[in-house]
Amino acid sequence: MAHLMTVPWLLLLIWMAHCAASRATRARADLLNVCMDAKHHKEKPGPEDNLHNQCSPWKKNSCCSTNTSQEAHKDISYLYRFNWDHCGTMAAECKRHFIQDTCLYECSPNLGPWIQQVDQSWRKERILDVPLCKEDCQQWWEDCRTSFTCKSNWHKGWDWTSGYNQCPVGASCHPFHFYFPTPAALCEEIWTHSYKLSNYSRGSGRCIQMWFDPAQGNPNEEVARFYAEAMSRAGLHGAWPLACSLSLMLFWVFS
Ligand SMILES: *[C@@H]1O[C@H](CO)[C@@H](O)[C@H](O)[C@H]1NC(C)=O
Ligand SMILES: *[C@@H]1O[C@H](CO)[C@@H](O)[C@H](O)[C@H]1NC(C)=O
Repeated sequence: MAHLMTVPWLLLLIWMAHCAASRATRARADLLNVCMDAKHHKEKPGPEDNLHNQCSPWKKNSCCSTNTSQEAHKDISYLYRFNWDHCGTMAAECKRHFIQDTCLYECSPNLGPWIQQVDQSWRKERILDVPLCKEDCQQWWEDCRTSFTCKSNWHKGWDWTSGYNQCPVGASCHPFHFYFPTPAALCEEIWTHSYKLSNYSRGSGRCIQMWFDPAQGNPNEEVARFYAEAMSRAGLHGAWPLACSLSLMLFWVFS
């Protein structure tokens, strides 16, 4: 009699083990090598031989098209009609960081762990709290020291009546450091927490690099893998199939 009872339990245990394993791999798979569902992203990442200038590190595997990579280098481009020069000309050493930020956002297939659904007219998904390597953030902040802006959140609150963003009434132009007193303030506030300042360094495999030398491969692949695994272990992502949760519940109720 006793051995007859154990068979269903054994099957249940095997089923649960299977559930746990498939949950982890499924969660990891849809966080890796993906493009977000936003305004200009390709549906899936793939090679793009002719990515322009600062976007070219993503050539081997990219979420942006050649056209997007070219537009990423322009002022008031067709991408977002964004005007970097809203408080006079932005210095070239500052602007190159905004171009690189655009390239990372548009081209990187390694931002999956930080993609979130949003209810916005112009995109269905955004990135949230991407851990940006501290040197990349620091350099961005230092190189923008001599440039001017009138706002600390560049996502909202602009005057768009001219077809591109201008400073709204009452927002006066000051040096960057007035609105962004620290590197963290810049990287985190400017795009509504798309980035967070990581305490990890470039090359650590634990933070996303905006800048990298493609000759050594794309360092962000490893970073995405690391966080995808950590997140699926923590069970923060991916719906655990109902049948799996039910079997766990039954196990607790009846054992
Ligand atoms: C990219 O495509 C858009 C829309 O088709 C077009 O208006 C724009 O001129 C293109 N840009 C380049 C650099 O080809
Ligand atoms: C930086 O990261 C390490 C490694 O995870 C962590 O233990 C440490 O608390 C962090 N330091 C700060 C200042 O946040």
